[in-house]
Amino acid sequence: MAKELESVEYGLEKIFEGAQDFLPLLGTDYVEFYVGNAKQSAHYYKTAFGYQSYAYKGLETGSRDQVSYVLKQDKIKLVLTTPLNSQSPINDHIVKHGDGVKVIALWVDDAKKAYDETISRGAKSYMAPEVESDEYGEIVRAGIYTYGETVHMFVERKNYTGLFLPGFVEWKSDYNPESVGLKYIDHMVGNVGWGEMDTWVKWYEEVMGFVNFLSFDDKQIHTEYSALMSKVMSNGNGRIKFPINEPAEAAKKSQIEEYLDFYEGPGVQHLALATDDIVATVAQLKARGVEFLPPPPQSYYDMIPERLGSHMDIMKEDIAKLQELSILVDADEEGYLLQIFTKPVEDRPTLFYEIIQRMGAKGFGAGNFKALFESIEREQAKRGTL
Ligand code: FE2
Repeated sequence: MAKELESVEYGLEKIFEGAQDFLPLLGTDYVEFYVGNAKQSAHYYKTAFGYQSYAYKGLETGSRDQVSYVLKQDKIKLVLTTPLNSQSPINDHIVKHGDGVKVIALWVDDAKKAYDETISRGAKSYMAPEVESDEYGEIVRAGIYTYGETVHMFVERKNYTGLFLPGFVEWKSDYNPESVGLKYIDHMVGNVGWGEMDTWVKWYEEVMGFVNFLSFDDKQIHTEYSALMSKVMSNGNGRIKFPINEPAEAAKKSQIEEYLDFYEGPGVQHLALATDDIVATVAQLKARGVEFLPPPPQSYYDMIPERLGSHMDIMKEDIAKLQELSILVDADEEGYLLQIFTKPVEDRPTLFYEIIQRMGAKGFGAGNFKALFESIEREQAKRGTL
């Protein structure tokens, strides 16, 4: 067990056979959101989620058409970007989708090679390789489209010693709320349209060299009313995991369909952020106003000892405490995991967050799907979108 816990820096890190690491990906570099008001979003992420001010570009640094705030918490970097005039194409993204994830940036050793390899395998170009430099050296970036209008940007920073990217300055603030203990991005989930899941599974296999290492069909992921299908893609070293969801036919509207209606197309559904003390992290997040999905019924918590079996021996958390905070528990052969989901963090019911603590388990909480989706359905019913 101790050995498992030492190696959780990237969650599921392991070598996946069958993956072809022709890129290869070293990790997640940053996630960029296009938002209506980056200054206020940045304040929310600092106050509510415990991010620290890190870097900035805007009018004061010579950026005339857009402003970006970079926030950091341990290994996680978020970039919040807002256009400064009506001509910027960033507006079109915000008008159509509302606030949402535009770029999932991936850290590579050679951005041009990653671009050439993926383009030769059928990727659609977003940005041909560009070299940006300042007194700290140079960064090479290149981008390709994935599902919807979402982009994967390859970032090469081996010849750069600056803070973030050329054009950015250090963002110093007098307001520095403490971290809530979030460490790294465990996985990022995409919602795609009806019948498109396998297209994107194939795209990640062929274009990115990923493997599909877990699948859930609508018989496994359903409630009385709604259903979805999900396949989990991983790169070769296991550092990057992208589950892909599509809606499935059922009596009422799937949460994936609700997302697609309000995001007006495919996009990032949730970011799962890892902590090594979920009880402390969630208590902090709640105290700071982050809203989570309502808890499952009492019977869910009564069943935990039975569901965990022998893992109960290693479980340190108090079940009553987990229940008090509405934290969910799941187990597989290798251990258990603790997870909880926020409500959407913008007015459109689109992007939300998962907080996850892995105690050896390498799954995604399949044992919680039913309880989770019933909870989401109760929220959908309030919104009139079930
Ligand atoms: Fe997740």
